[in-house]
Amino acid sequence: MPGAEEYVPPRVRLPGLRKAVQECRGCELYRDADRAVFGEGRESARAVVVGEQPGDQEDRAGRPFVGPAGRLFDEALAEVGIDRDDVYVTNATKHFRFQRQQGKRRIHQKPSRGQVNACRPWLTAELNVVRPEVVVCLGATAAQALLGPSFRVSRQRGELIEHEGMRVLATVHPSAVLRSEDDREQRYAELVADLRVAAETLRP
Ligand code: URA
Ligand code: SF4
Repeated sequence: MPGAEEYVPPRVRLPGLRKAVQECRGCELYRDADRAVFGEGRESARAVVVGEQPGDQEDRAGRPFVGPAGRLFDEALAEVGIDRDDVYVTNATKHFRFQRQQGKRRIHQKPSRGQVNACRPWLTAELNVVRPEVVVCLGATAAQALLGPSFRVSRQRGELIEHEGMRVLATVHPSAVLRSEDDREQRYAELVADLRVAAETLRP
């Protein structure tokens, strides 16, 4: 896996990065996905939210967090009073990884650590342009992409961590909230509580 490094143009802003990512061949995931799904939001956003990877609906739409997980996330954001315009939303990897089942249905597959590493230069480029006050990682893939493979969301969720000049916080992934059965309310409450910590850092 060559990694995305050589595909990331130097000294360009978000529009240039968004255009260039469609040409990325940094790992094998570009082959099966319909397109790369780059982050979305303003360059002036005060928070960057990092998910895992685009899902089926995101791959079709070409936009991050537009499916069920995105809707739940938007609800949680509204609950803690974070303005959607203050948020830049992206993913640890930019191409959808899936397995095709029974002809048509595309089943989400977690990106490998190698693929996350290969894709990191895009995330780094986004963070360098947006320069957020706080970074919220949704789930282990995003948290480990930024904070390293030994980071455990279960142990450290909701903690503000100083990392390479940024304040980073990890929480549960909205898809995990949607998947949980018995403790769905509890998981959602965790997500909201952690987002409240991020919201506090954004108060004037
Ligand atoms: N889940 C993610 O992690 N990212 C998306 O963009 C959508 C679902
Ligand atoms: Fe490039 Fe990332 Fe897509 Fe792999 S997942 S091809 S590194 S943009």
